[in-house]
Amino acid sequence: MNVVTCIAPVNIAVIKYWGKRDEDLILPINDSLSATLHTDHLCAKTTVMTSADFKEDRIWLNGSEESIDNKRLQNCLKEIRKRAKLGSDVGSWKVHICSENNFPTAAGLASSAAGYACLVAALAGLYNVEGDISAAARSGSGSACRSVFGGFVRWYSGSKPDGSDSIAKQIAAPEHWPEMRILVLVVNDASKKVSSAIGMKRSVATSELLKYRAEHSVPRRVEEMTKAILDRDFTKFAELTMKDSNQFHATCLDTFPPCVYMNDTSHAIVELIHAYNAAAGETKAAYTFDAGPNATLYLLEKDVPEVISILNHYFPTISLGDIGVEYLKGIPVQPAAVSEDLLRRINAERQSPGKLKYIIHTCVGDGPKILHEAADHLLDRSGLPLRRKA
Ligand code: DP6
Repeated sequence: MNVVTCIAPVNIAVIKYWGKRDEDLILPINDSLSATLHTDHLCAKTTVMTSADFKEDRIWLNGSEESIDNKRLQNCLKEIRKRAKLGSDVGSWKVHICSENNFPTAAGLASSAAGYACLVAALAGLYNVEGDISAAARSGSGSACRSVFGGFVRWYSGSKPDGSDSIAKQIAAPEHWPEMRILVLVVNDASKKVSSAIGMKRSVATSELLKYRAEHSVPRRVEEMTKAILDRDFTKFAELTMKDSNQFHATCLDTFPPCVYMNDTSHAIVELIHAYNAAAGETKAAYTFDAGPNATLYLLEKDVPEVISILNHYFPTISLGDIGVEYLKGIPVQPAAVSEDLLRRINAERQSPGKLKYIIHTCVGDGPKILHEAADHLLDRSGLPLRRKA
């Protein structure tokens, strides 16, 4: 078969990767740890095809042709091609790549991790590559190496200069903690953010806090987090998740000039979650933020209906007609009635309508998957995209 289609998941770190020790090889200054989100609700899909008729390597992203001369893309292609187990003729053919996300890129959700993991998994299928593909995904985007596995995943920073020990490994399968749920809160925001690649370069050059974090905080936290996951200790998991997100954003502010990723809505979410946990008398939910204003909440299945109601109360939506999209996406949930007494105890500030665009309710899921139906391919028989942007 000279065509392979694959889907791959998004992952959200609970111990963050921030800072590279080698820019070219994409080697991090610290270990990181994430959960892989279910591909039913958020995923990248990629078809790769090779043929003697193709004149050059080409790529289409979300319907538009992009330049193939992208260093990160070339790194992935090179990594996989050098391990190809194909006849020398087929191995030298050009490749066409077509990739899409099943969520709006405009939402500002980290799509590069899913995208590069998907590309590498599809190419590995096409070129019969066996063994670890996390290092190849890493050469496209650091966090992508964690999306090649399902469940809970640790990216070992490694210490070798060639990066051969900088790989990801699964620490627990998705079924290990079946009650774990994730709410992705997509925040309305128009401001332009510094990309993670540029932000982390600037942090490595200027932030003293980042050095402290990589040397002292993260090594201890990854061990504690691994134990919390293996013990299914939600209270500890949540505390570490929130503290690590806060420390990561503190290093961004300690960067010079500072990188500001969270906005007022993000900070209001942080306040609400602390107020809710305090009012409930136990840790019910944890927030974490990547290089943007969107919040990801980790919580247990039993608390989802109440948390959705609380979010609806403090972050009311503008009417569905106005936003034109379904407000609550993903796993269906019936919001629970919240008592006046709980709302009084939470006592947070109610926001004006429309601060949140929508919410995606999902769970922990598997790693990349090859799709075997011909109808799944994004390229037609001649190697051109079936759907193209007008
Ligand atoms: C804040 O993986 O996007 O999401 O390696 O330069 O492609 P590059 O960076 P990227 O950085 C992600 C940073 C983060 C934290 C995390 O996912 O661990």
